[in-house]
Amino acid sequence: MKVVICSSYEEESMKAVEIFARRMREKPNIVLGLATGGTPVGTYKELIRLHKEEGLDFSQATTFNLDEYAGLSPSHPQSYRYFMDKNLFDEINIKKENTHILSGLAEDLEAECASFEERIASAGGIDLQLLGIGSNGHIAFNEPGTARNSRTHVVDLAESTIRDNARFFDDPSEVPRQALTMGIGTIMEAREIVLLASGGGKARAIANSVEGPVTEEVPASILQDHACVTFIVDKEGASLLKGNYQT
Ligand code: GLP
Repeated sequence: MKVVICSSYEEESMKAVEIFARRMREKPNIVLGLATGGTPVGTYKELIRLHKEEGLDFSQATTFNLDEYAGLSPSHPQSYRYFMDKNLFDEINIKKENTHILSGLAEDLEAECASFEERIASAGGIDLQLLGIGSNGHIAFNEPGTARNSRTHVVDLAESTIRDNARFFDDPSEVPRQALTMGIGTIMEAREIVLLASGGGKARAIANSVEGPVTEEVPASILQDHACVTFIVDKEGASLLKGNYQT
């Protein structure tokens, strides 16, 4: 895997956007995999700027988001649908019907996961997937111990993830205990992957994922087996890495 260490969060976001903009210009009908959380917000801001100022065109793009909380409606401010509309989709010229996010309110959550897999397949698979990383090494909501061949599924969130994500909710007791997530097998089928991490809270997860053994106990370490992955990390996030990497 390729690792790029940046001096700041802003530089990190710019590096990610360089890859996204290049791929979008090469293939206007690109299929993007998108992520939520605090980390990709800078990337989305810069994509919006490129759209508004330089005409970066999303009109033929299709997107699939990694995950969604179970039980939250799309209008709930902490739902990932709400997050994506507010932080990206409402500001660019993407067709809303081409933005796919798992429904946390589906009556049959398993059927929703199966239909999501079918929608990814009929779009031709994901060309470029953006990922964040949890402090425990999770990707999307694939917690430690998730099978590497897992497909989109319903998960019970780890206590550490509930704690990490409680900062977004008024009251920690409001954090849903379950979510729907693309599986590790689903993510590994993306043709290219960019993982972003920022801050010292991610340093252990980054070191384990890049330099540790490939193990289901650290879901992001499985990315070592993917042919085209770039980790873009700020100095704090990279502080426990021992190797020499591109800066
Ligand atoms: C959540 C999301 C992940 C994300 C992680 C890190 O658990 N399901 O996809 O990578 O948070 O979020 P943050 O970027 O806010 O640290």
